[in-house]
Amino acid sequence: MNILVIGATGAQGGAVARRLVDSGHAVRGLTRSGAGLPPGVTPVTGDLADASAVRAAFDGVTHASVVLPMVFEPSVVETYIRNIAEAAVAAGVRRLVYNTANRMPSVPTSVAAFETRRFATSVLVESGVETVAVRPPLYLDNLCAPWVAGPLVHEGVLRYPLPADVPVSWLSHADLATATIAALTAPTADLAPAEDLDPTADLNPTPDLTPTADLAPAAALAPPSAAAVIPTLASPAADLTAAALPRSATTADFTSAPSIASVAPVDPVALIPPVEQVSPVEQVSPVEQVSPVEQVSPVEQVSPVEQVSPVEQVSPVERVSPVERVSPASPARVGAGAGFAVDLGGADVVTGTELAAAFSAVLGRPVRYVAQDLDEFEAGLTHALGATTAAGVVSTYRWVAEHGHDLYDLDPAALEKTLAISLTPLSTWIAAQPWTELAR
Ligand SMILES: NC(=O)c1ccc[n+]([C@@H]2O[C@H](COP(=O)([O-])OP(=O)(O)OC[C@H]3O[C@@H](n4cnc5c(N)ncnc54)[C@H](OP(=O)(O)O)[C@@H]3O)[C@@H](O)[C@H]2O)c1
Repeated sequence: MNILVIGATGAQGGAVARRLVDSGHAVRGLTRSGAGLPPGVTPVTGDLADASAVRAAFDGVTHASVVLPMVFEPSVVETYIRNIAEAAVAAGVRRLVYNTANRMPSVPTSVAAFETRRFATSVLVESGVETVAVRPPLYLDNLCAPWVAGPLVHEGVLRYPLPADVPVSWLSHADLATATIAALTAPTADLAPAEDLDPTADLNPTPDLTPTADLAPAAALAPPSAAAVIPTLASPAADLTAAALPRSATTADFTSAPSIASVAPVDPVALIPPVEQVSPVEQVSPVEQVSPVEQVSPVEQVSPVEQVSPVEQVSPVERVSPVERVSPASPARVGAGAGFAVDLGGADVVTGTELAAAFSAVLGRPVRYVAQDLDEFEAGLTHALGATTAAGVVSTYRWVAEHGHDLYDLDPAALEKTLAISLTPLSTWIAAQPWTELAR
């Protein structure tokens, strides 16, 4: 494998790149500055906004690991991901593992940090490049930030901006790297289809099986623009800047904006019924998902010809029959290419209260959990990241607090089975971190 890591100078991509180098792979890393790559990674200088630089970075690459930077502006994300998709296709990349950097709710939201990543996944899949979207929950490494480690060490308080009762399958960057490398080579038959790519799917809960659905214009096969997918965020007044977001605003306020249905009229993907946030066990069980007739391997379903031929993509005859389309086991029919998704997580799923108890047990002293106030969290992040980025990050925590108590849950055993990996126990991870040093 010749592997390109996008984000290799960052925390997540860096962990992946480091592990790939340690495993003996040839790894190059895209970076704007050239500084900060893990040892052994070959730098390729360029900006994701520069299509020719991205193409050059992909030249000769067979596999790629991609995480987008902390940018949530839909038009910028769209430019980045289209440049990546086009370059991956041009290079003939065999598989791209896309780290969505967060889980994505099964329902459409007006949260740019979720929807731009959902949109990015659909762009990759529609491009025809074989894509495995790995969807992590929250990272354990977030707890190493001084604003968490400080109160932990000095006050015995684990302060984090989530309600105490939300279960989270906290994932370490190290296990992210393990999972990403496994996803780069996992047999497609082991992977679940990325069925919930289309944020409009939930707005069409009763699949329309009339023949006219087969007559969707070619344009309907391409993902709509990011701005169309996220209308409330594309409109300047609704930008998620701190200034535009009243402290009292709730997610319900955002969803009262124009509905996504009004801007994304017809999309074959929407004919696939909405998939609830399913556990990996449900995702990978071919027996449950697939009728015997439909148990065709994803590889067979998405021949290279199907992936690249625009004529075939838009022909109603070539597209799946309505019956096939509503089957949850048609990975090849999600967009033009093969799209797979794996929800990631760590070995232990714990609430905030249980997380504090785990710290207490490992550190040998009392630790209690305190759900940090979200406005206070945003104020702190604003100092570090600026108001727009901070508001973008915090909007995901606001959504989880209001709607997403199950967003970060997982069946760890099923994930281990799907990717044939071993996850690190929470207590092992806690014991390995230099907490006193991190608190300084
Ligand atoms: N789920 C969670 O718990 C969690 C936690 C943290 C972050 N996240 C998410 O993870 C994603 C990554 O954020 P992060 O803060 O972790 O990243 P990061 O560590 O700051 O890394 C960002 C990476 O992106 C690269 N980059 C930035 N802009 C670029 C551009 N225009 N062209 C090319 N490369 C560019 C940087 O490379 P150079 O600077 O070398 O160019 C760097 O490698 C974000 O979506 C964030 O919201 C999720």
